Amino acid sequence: MTSIQSLIAQMTLEEKAALCTGASAWTTTPVERLDVPELFVSDGPHGLRRVPEVHSMSNKSLPATCFPTASALAASWDVDLLYEMGQALAEEAIALGVDVILGPGANMKRSPLCGRNFEYFSEDPYLAGAMAVGLIEGIQSQGVGTSLKHFAANNQEYERCSINAEVDERALREIYLPAFEMAVTKAKPWTVMCSYNKVNGTYASENRRLLTDILKKEWGFEGFVVSDWGAVHNRVAGLQAGLDLEMPGPKQARVNAVIEAVRNGDLDEAVVDEAVRRILTIVCRAAQTPKGKAFDVAAHHALARKIAAESMVLLKNNGLLPLQAPQHIAVVGRAAREAHFQGGGSSHINPTQVDVPFNELQKLAGNAEISFAEGYPRDDSRDQALIDEAVTIALAADVALLYIALPTFKESEGYDRPDLDLTAQQVALIQAVTAVQPNTVVILNNGAPVVMGEWLDGAAAVLEAWMMGQAGGGAIADVLFGRVNPSGKLAETYPLRLMDTPAYLNFPGENGVVRYGEGLYIGYRYYDTRQVPVLFPFGYGLSYTSFAYGNMRVSADSFRDVDGLTVSVDVTNTGPVAGQEIVQVYVRDRESRLARPYKELKGFAKVSLQPGETKTVSVSLDSRAFAYYDPAYPQWITEDGQFDILVGASSADIRCCATVTLQSTLQLPSTLHDESTIRAWLNDPAGKPILEPIFNELMKKGGLFSSDDSDDNSMDMDLVGFLLDLPLRNFFHFQEGSLTQPPDDITNMLLEQVHGAR
Ligand code: BGC
Repeated sequence: MTSIQSLIAQMTLEEKAALCTGASAWTTTPVERLDVPELFVSDGPHGLRRVPEVHSMSNKSLPATCFPTASALAASWDVDLLYEMGQALAEEAIALGVDVILGPGANMKRSPLCGRNFEYFSEDPYLAGAMAVGLIEGIQSQGVGTSLKHFAANNQEYERCSINAEVDERALREIYLPAFEMAVTKAKPWTVMCSYNKVNGTYASENRRLLTDILKKEWGFEGFVVSDWGAVHNRVAGLQAGLDLEMPGPKQARVNAVIEAVRNGDLDEAVVDEAVRRILTIVCRAAQTPKGKAFDVAAHHALARKIAAESMVLLKNNGLLPLQAPQHIAVVGRAAREAHFQGGGSSHINPTQVDVPFNELQKLAGNAEISFAEGYPRDDSRDQALIDEAVTIALAADVALLYIALPTFKESEGYDRPDLDLTAQQVALIQAVTAVQPNTVVILNNGAPVVMGEWLDGAAAVLEAWMMGQAGGGAIADVLFGRVNPSGKLAETYPLRLMDTPAYLNFPGENGVVRYGEGLYIGYRYYDTRQVPVLFPFGYGLSYTSFAYGNMRVSADSFRDVDGLTVSVDVTNTGPVAGQEIVQVYVRDRESRLARPYKELKGFAKVSLQPGETKTVSVSLDSRAFAYYDPAYPQWITEDGQFDILVGASSADIRCCATVTLQSTLQLPSTLHDESTIRAWLNDPAGKPILEPIFNELMKKGGLFSSDDSDDNSMDMDLVGFLLDLPLRNFFHFQEGSLTQPPDDITNMLLEQVHGAR
């Protein structure tokens, strides 16, 4: 094949500019003269939305398997399973002639109110990154590309195309970027999609720092950056910032703008060439995967069922589950008949088939008599007759199964959630049914947390079934009857109240700006550090068996950051049935110069165990697991000191702990300057030996702060405490009377010493 460089050399400026803008809603511009084909992209992320008419954004798409959405997937904590799903997605892409799947989404769940959280993995960047890696690697292993989205700080739907996300540097680096960073550096997605919003004042589509400095240079991203659909404002500024492809097209005016900017010298043609090089590389790579081979519809449906079952989280169980051959089951809730298995918006899939939860239940229920009541209407209205009917059948049954789906008007792409509540009718329904039937199971279909305070106590069991994909109806039945032992654990905290959530005071922003005032403290980082009680903690989920943890080991009590650490623990299935446990490893920095969350997830493993079986689980922690981002340097840094390694069954259920000592191998330049405080100087490894003797000497002399009686202190304050917070220069000015040289000369001399010392 002709090399990319020689292709570029043969292209006219017009052809290059055209390649940087789509030809349709889903295709790039081909260069027929040079045999450069178009690239076909489709949503994403949990199934193919392959629209047959390329100039339509919203036509009914071709049938494809709808897998569970990202919030469900993350609750599986199963990277291999996501890889397997990725392979299946790629097979469907190949069948439908798609080169690149628009997903996964790696945005953080800053607030549970974000309408699109169902398409995102987690409130934790490590878990979200690991999930994204699994999915991307699975898809790309088959020669199909991905588009990691929405880069970056797109954490709400409110004003999503214009809102300015004001995020401080540490929060950006430690919370909002790491999932993208992990996915880019480990899984190498073919493309990255920039978000609609502004980040710290600049549209993501024109954000050179994000697209070029961080993504391409720092992380070594080799693919192309595509705009979210309609995210481009100034095409030339976008190209200069590192936005390679604008979608959707056609947009001749944009192409002309690029040509004109090159001709009049405003845009260096080399910038266009670089975008063209990146796009052509992917176009040529995609062309190597033959398209058209049909996929196995039944096998993918079965896989969707397996994934859905693995993702479900058993939130409460008083022992009613798994069901023990009930004779009469009352099924309540329209979601039992109309499966609520996906969310609204660009990820909406035309499924190949849909498991109806009621029918699937019936298949596994043996000879049980099953009655049905709708329970709640499709809209937000109240209907007491529906509740009365449900109560009647629940009373007559041994067990009531309530299928409660959060309606689309309360959760979708395009708008945020108004609250964390079910509809008033649903709450009243659950209350009424649980009041008459103690054996009630609530099965939830939603993409993000709901509050449960008004009804949780009455329910015997609660199963979070998520937006469970097209085969979820069968998966629910599998879990209810114990054909599958639930093993999902929450990838996001369930709060008690909306007002407890970290971003509550800063969501969704005003006057076009949303300030990420909670900084690093989102999700469990906030609840843990503030000790705010929650409904269900991050990492929580029940099983039909139980697990014991023991014999925790660390590879070294004291280790160098570059060597990392391996943590091992023995996990035993102490219950009656086979099951899977998700072992979570959190790291807590006991002392650090900059504030850190109480603990952070840095590793996990999922292990299958037969009853009585024990396995050793090992998790490796690299240097990054202990590091934080210090904007003063600016880079990730490790500090000498002690860290607690906490191994748990959830963020709130720590089973074993070890304390280790890290030796940092970082040689950091001193950041001391003349306004650094005395405290900063004395804490700095280079500053301390230089300043300390002088400081001690001056303290002995007393200077301006001397008193007649050294035991007496007329200002009634700790003078040393006061002095520690003085900038160096001010300190010497106060001490001028005790100095033999002018204070500024001494300050400058110390600065020379400290910076020359390195
Ligand atoms: C969404 C993207 C999606 C694109 C194409 C946008 O509105 O934000 O996630 O991939 O449309 O449908």
